[in-house]
Amino acid sequence: MGKIDNIQQKIKDFVKNNLKLTILIIIVLIGIYTFVSIEALHYTSDPSFCKNCHPEDRAGLLGEVYTWQMTPHAKASVECLDCHGRIGFFGYMKAKMGGLRDVYGEFFKSPEYKLEILRRSSENPKYAAKLVPNETCLFCHTDSYNQKIRQETIMRVVFTMRKVDGVKNPDFRVSKGLPDILTEGVRPTAGIEPKHKSHYDKGINCVDCHLGVAHGGQPVNKPTKQRCFDCHDKMKPAKAPENENCMACHKTEESMTPKSAIVFGRGASAVTFAHDTHAAISSCKDCHDKLFPMRKGATKFTFDDHSKGNLCFACHDGKKAFSWTSCNSCHAETPFPKKPIVYKQKDAAPVEFSHEFHASVFTCNDCHNKIWQMKKSPKRMTMDAMYEGKFCGSCHNGKAAFASTECDKCHIEPKKGN
Ligand code: HEC
Ligand code: HEC
Ligand code: HEC
Ligand code: HEC
Ligand code: HEC
Ligand code: HEC
Ligand code: HEC
Ligand code: HEC
Ligand code: HEC
Ligand code: HEC
Ligand code: HEC
Ligand code: HEC
Repeated sequence: MGKIDNIQQKIKDFVKNNLKLTILIIIVLIGIYTFVSIEALHYTSDPSFCKNCHPEDRAGLLGEVYTWQMTPHAKASVECLDCHGRIGFFGYMKAKMGGLRDVYGEFFKSPEYKLEILRRSSENPKYAAKLVPNETCLFCHTDSYNQKIRQETIMRVVFTMRKVDGVKNPDFRVSKGLPDILTEGVRPTAGIEPKHKSHYDKGINCVDCHLGVAHGGQPVNKPTKQRCFDCHDKMKPAKAPENENCMACHKTEESMTPKSAIVFGRGASAVTFAHDTHAAISSCKDCHDKLFPMRKGATKFTFDDHSKGNLCFACHDGKKAFSWTSCNSCHAETPFPKKPIVYKQKDAAPVEFSHEFHASVFTCNDCHNKIWQMKKSPKRMTMDAMYEGKFCGSCHNGKAAFASTECDKCHIEPKKGN
């Protein structure tokens, strides 16, 4: 005790003798303290600080800094606490206190616990809306809301600690080329008009559609149509458009162009149809619904469609587009007709030629186009030609295959009832 009394006495003496110097020292100390505190606040608000505990360099949980970096928000310097902290000075301070919970969780809870917390917000829009409520997003994205909050809230105390507290709409918004989403709709470049106001008025949250806006792992956040349909189907809101009413949501036909290719058939002979190349040359009307309905899997093809100019072959006729005869432009491996080719005779039983059988033994080139074109010819073949080793007779000569004189191996009376 004596020691402390001693020190106190010394300080009293010093203050009495050096009043001006003491005041100066106090001012400097307060200055240093303030400086250190503010620097600490800055430091612990920086994304690079968050990265210590949200460190992954991939999309997904713990990769929140990584995913944020690729968004337009990051490029416009909208940082973590601009979204993860309520608006205004006290919102900021509250977020800093909340940060202590993060630190506590990091050191005193299991990694599984941490992942569980993170998963909850990334999957559940209801929880995500508690984490980042509409007010935060609207503050930057709508003028009236911005003005209202600015009037009611202490935005800064001497320092502006983060971007969101300095945002003054409409200047900010306009400088970023953004519309007021409640009064102006979306930019002309957007393919979907989501009627922001109708949804907001019904109490629907931004993250109901924009879940993953900062952490979805995509360079831009475009709600999928499944997200729209899931809710419209479940809630059945009276004013929501039917799923079939395409133009209620789509501003342009182009935005309805399927992004993934459509595949017809299976295996090596399957045909891939790309909308992007075709829609660049033709308009939707050229195909829909004249040739195809706007529904995947609705069309069935036969080989006859090729030469008759149906479906794809309305264009792929060698004039409007490459001919159907260049099989490999569409089929990686050319398929053969599944049904046998039937030759009906006046004075003999009919003959069935089976590709199923012959193409399993030979390649297409053994017959095409050496002996036959890949197209049934209207010209008839004669037996005499076959006996001389032409057509079927080039194999059916008694050596490579049974002879052309073994009539009833080829001319087979159809079974009764057929
Ligand atoms: C010391 C490690 C640590 C640092 C640094 C850290 N976090 Fe966290 N963060 C955690 C842990 C642990 C959790 C999960 C447990 C919890 O919230 O208590 C978490 C959870 C979160 C959540 C989800 C909270 C919820 O309730 O769902 C957000 C948002 C978040 N952090 C943002 C940030 C931001 C922004 C920064 C930088 C300003 C940051 N974190 C810095 C450890 C950290
Ligand atoms: C534009 C607003 C915005 C910005 C900026 C933003 N976040 Fe988020 N963050 C969200 C929203 C909204 C969610 C809710 C879940 C979701 O959408 O993925 C979220 C969720 C999270 C979660 C919970 C886990 C998860 O993956 O969903 C963490 C952790 C997190 N953010 C950290 C950060 C960090 C760190 C930064 C800065 C590097 C940051 N956020 C920047 C809006 C933002
Ligand atoms: C601090 C202001 C600010 C906040 C808070 C904010 N944004 Fe943004 N937002 C911006 C700016 C600036 C851009 C424009 C970036 C660009 O296109 O250059 C933007 C762009 C967007 C875009 C279009 C780009 C994209 O990522 O697809 C969407 C959607 C969006 N914001 C939604 C939200 C949502 C949802 C929230 C709340 C979770 C939110 N914003 C919070 C400022 C903000
Ligand atoms: C009903 C679903 C839905 C809700 C709810 C929703 N949005 Fe959107 N938002 C969209 C769609 C769809 C787009 C257009 C995407 C595209 O095609 O570019 C969009 C675009 C945007 C854009 C970009 C505007 C532009 O012109 O580039 C911003 C900013 C945005 N939304 C912010 C918000 C904010 C803030 C909220 C919450 C108040 C919100 N959204 C709520 C579906 C929604
Ligand atoms: C969380 C639920 C929910 C989601 C998700 C949702 N909607 Fe809605 N939608 C509604 C409700 C509720 C209404 C009725 C609004 C009203 O009565 O004014 C509605 C109405 C609409 C309307 C008609 C409103 C008008 O003013 O004409 C359009 C268009 C629409 N939604 C488009 C979309 C699109 C596009 C998406 C996806 C990007 C989407 N919705 C996602 C709930 C949802
Ligand atoms: C409730 C609103 C809504 C309705 C109604 C709607 N769509 Fe969409 N559609 C969307 C949204 C949102 C997207 C995603 C936009 C994006 O990715 O840019 C989308 C994307 C698409 C895509 C491209 C994505 C893909 O899967 O390849 C196609 C194609 C499409 N819609 C076709 C249609 C057709 C056809 C109709 C009418 C039968 C229709 N849509 C009706 C909201 C709607
Ligand atoms: C412009 C594109 C295109 C070209 C060129 C083309 N096809 Fe096809 N073909 C298709 C499509 C699409 C189908 C349907 C795929 C399916 O259902 O398996 C198909 C189906 C077939 C089938 C199967 C029909 C059935 O009954 O199962 C045969 C056989 C066939 N093609 C043979 C050919 C041959 C031989 C050529 C060349 C002379 C050719 N195709 C050239 C697009 C093309
Ligand atoms: C060259 C012909 C062609 C053009 C041009 C074309 N389509 Fe298609 N479209 C198709 C075919 C083929 C299908 C598949 C039909 C089937 O499987 O029965 C299809 C299917 C679709 C589907 C249904 C996809 C699904 O997943 O069910 C949509 C949506 C569509 N088209 C939209 C468009 C739009 C929008 C345009 C104009 C920008 C367009 N198409 C231009 C040939 C075309
Ligand atoms: C409205 C006319 C039209 C129809 C219908 C059409 N095409 Fe095409 N297609 C074209 C034109 C034009 C080109 C480009 C010129 C060329 O290569 O001869 C093309 C190119 C292609 C190509 C080569 C380029 C690419 O996308 O890889 C393929 C393969 C193709 N078409 C397949 C198909 C199939 C399969 C169908 C039917 C499902 C079809 N097309 C229907 C007009 C059409
Ligand atoms: C053993 C000989 C032989 C082999 C091997 C063979 N074909 Fe043929 N193919 C024929 C004959 C015979 C015809 C009918 C010619 C005629 O009557 O003018 C024919 C006709 C066709 C036709 C036209 C059908 C029609 O209805 O117009 C296609 C397509 C065809 N072949 C595809 C193939 C493909 C693809 C292969 C290889 C996988 C193949 N063929 C292998 C003998 C053969
Ligand atoms: C490239 C050689 C080749 C050609 C060309 C050929 N065949 Fe064959 N064919 C064979 C061989 C090899 C067999 C099996 C061996 C045997 O049975 O002697 C066979 C078997 C058959 C069979 C019995 C198996 C079955 O499919 O039921 C019939 C019928 C037949 N051929 C009909 C024809 C007809 C009709 C033609 C002409 C349109 C023809 N073949 C052209 C090689 C050929
Ligand atoms: C390898 C199979 C094969 C054998 C074996 C065969 N034929 Fe044929 N025959 C055919 C085919 C295929 C046609 C049809 C040609 C067409 O319609 O273009 C045909 C056509 C005919 C015709 C009508 C055309 C003509 O040449 O007058 C007669 C008659 C005929 N066959 C009788 C016979 C007799 C008799 C035998 C036995 C001595 C026999 N065929 C053996 C495949 C065969």
